[in-house]
Amino acid sequence: MEPAPALDVLLPPGHAPIAPDPAEASLTRLYAYPPGRWVRANMIASLDGAATGADGRSGSINGAADHRVFEVLRGLADVILVGAGTARAERYRGPRTPERLLPVRRALGLPDHPPLAVVTRRGDLPAALLDDEPRPWVFTVPEAPFLGHLRAHLPKDRLHLHPGGVDPHRVLGTLAEAGLPHVLCEGGPRLLADLVTADLLDELCLTQAPAVVAGDATRVVHGGPWADPARAAHPAHLLHADGVLLGRWVLARD
Ligand SMILES: NC(=O)c1ccc[n+]([C@@H]2O[C@H](COP(=O)([O-])OP(=O)(O)OC[C@H]3O[C@@H](n4cnc5c(N)ncnc54)[C@H](OP(=O)(O)O)[C@@H]3O)[C@@H](O)[C@H]2O)c1
Repeated sequence: MEPAPALDVLLPPGHAPIAPDPAEASLTRLYAYPPGRWVRANMIASLDGAATGADGRSGSINGAADHRVFEVLRGLADVILVGAGTARAERYRGPRTPERLLPVRRALGLPDHPPLAVVTRRGDLPAALLDDEPRPWVFTVPEAPFLGHLRAHLPKDRLHLHPGGVDPHRVLGTLAEAGLPHVLCEGGPRLLADLVTADLLDELCLTQAPAVVAGDATRVVHGGPWADPARAAHPAHLLHADGVLLGRWVLARD
């Protein structure tokens, strides 16, 4: 990965550029979570709206500016929520906070590394992810075909069964009760559609990569019923580096 670039602050106006800073003092202030339960999503899209490049992964459209913000958002989160499709496609393992951001987490009273929380109907998750530290939370259904595999690898308190379908309200409730109210959802598109439909998404951090890919990739929020009327959002801030735009969009509450 190239060195982290300086970030221009396009919005709000009058803000100095954010120079490279191993401790990320400015970015941690800009992206601070509000108190209480808050669900932030962080996604990247090409200019033509694709959530992946030709290889079916987001790595082929991201770059150093996105990586800089990605690490800060992980550094601030209590827990990282993903759908099993993303965990498999992007080969997730237990998140590791870079040394330089450990003081950020410690100042917030957070453990050094945030755990993953994964939602799945099938339960087909690699043992390397289930056995990794910090141990992940997994939310699934009693009839999941890979339930035995999950039971063999997870402590009881990390495996949660939802009869009738994984309920995102209950997922977030369980995490909040466990002291993990500040959620960072890293996708994927279908899990995010469920969160939007259930009116549970508070914020979308969206990186627009300066690239056009055509093809038939999904959008960053994809599937499920239309949000009608569309959910309005306002920009809390908008950053820029080398054509990459990084927005923090807060969704309006009805
Ligand atoms: N551009 C970006 O920032 C970004 C971010 C993340 C992912 N991606 C890309 O998105 C693609 C994956 O897309 P996707 O929509 O399939 O991802 P996804 O939402 O992570 O995965 C869908 C799978 O997650 C599980 N799942 C999702 N919602 C669920 C719910 N409410 N209840 C129970 N299980 C649920 C199911 O897993 P089971 O199949 O195990 O039942 C479902 O098949 C990959 O190509 C990945 O690279 C891009």
